[in-house]
Amino acid sequence: MIKKIEELRKEIENLQAETAEAAEQLRIKYLSKKGAVSKLFDEFKTIPNEQKRDVGQALNTLKTFVKDRIIILKEGFSNSESESVDMDLTLPGISFELGGRHPLSIVRNEIIEIFARLGFTVAEGPEIEDDWHVFSALNFPEEHPARDMQDTFFIAQNPDVLLRTHTSSVQVREMEKTKPPIRTIFPGRVFRNEAISARAHCIFHQVEGLFIDEDVSFADLKQTLLYFAKEMFGEETKIRLRPSYFPFTEPSAEMDISCSLCGGKGCNVCKYTGWVEILGCGMVDPNVLENSNIDNKKYTGFAFGMGIERITMLRYQIKDIRLFFENDIRFLNQFKSVD
Ligand code: DAH
Repeated sequence: MIKKIEELRKEIENLQAETAEAAEQLRIKYLSKKGAVSKLFDEFKTIPNEQKRDVGQALNTLKTFVKDRIIILKEGFSNSESESVDMDLTLPGISFELGGRHPLSIVRNEIIEIFARLGFTVAEGPEIEDDWHVFSALNFPEEHPARDMQDTFFIAQNPDVLLRTHTSSVQVREMEKTKPPIRTIFPGRVFRNEAISARAHCIFHQVEGLFIDEDVSFADLKQTLLYFAKEMFGEETKIRLRPSYFPFTEPSAEMDISCSLCGGKGCNVCKYTGWVEILGCGMVDPNVLENSNIDNKKYTGFAFGMGIERITMLRYQIKDIRLFFENDIRFLNQFKSVD
């Protein structure tokens, strides 16, 4: 029987098939129930027990060999078939999707670029702060409501550790570590203990600006902000400064821009006034300069602070601030081509 197995193996070694069909015929000839290999298995049942081990092994090896051989013969055809039939080399390639920037990042970068054109550099500070940098150095009176537990997230174990409620804290850090002239903006994330709604969130972003040098005046502040408004919202944009109060600036103002949606005619975004508020600003209070060891006889300066969410909402007509933090891909996809 061993001899028969070897003969069959030689025969199979030399098998050739011209077509896939011919290869299939070979499979039937050798491996079907009545095929040559199966016949040997039938014969195997009749041989004496003591030969069974060796012959059985040889038979199994033969069977595997035939199977492999036929697979190889068939593969030859399936390859050339798929090349000619299934593959269209003129089809465009499969592209993979790239992500896009978050709308807040797009607008933050734009703000940075606008102020860079006026010579402002960029600096950042810590989100976890102390009372000095967020309040005391900025001239907040001891009993000022902004220090209230309702606005500020304090750490329970230590009231001197808190999450910054504005990026004005970074202007203090900058004044402490550099000598004037200072011309820098400070973008960053801020935190307030507020109920979340379409208009307010407990986490949002601000950009603070600071300019300190000799002879800096309110006129410089006005011109800087007018330039910013026109670059950000369009050449035809007008600004309006209304007197206001902040502990760290004197005088203080809030700035409105002419409504970019209705062009000042009145719509529901500007509540039919033609104006929308976008930032707070003023001349840096001499006490604030002194708190950071800057000579307030020699130097003056201006500061301003704006919310990035607010600017972005106006820019893209977004009605709900919560959309920025939900990471809904249907919302984010709309900004993909912007940057
Ligand atoms: N820090 C203020 C806020 O969070 C914004 C602000 C107002 C910043 C006036 C300033 C400023 O630098 O001069 O609402």
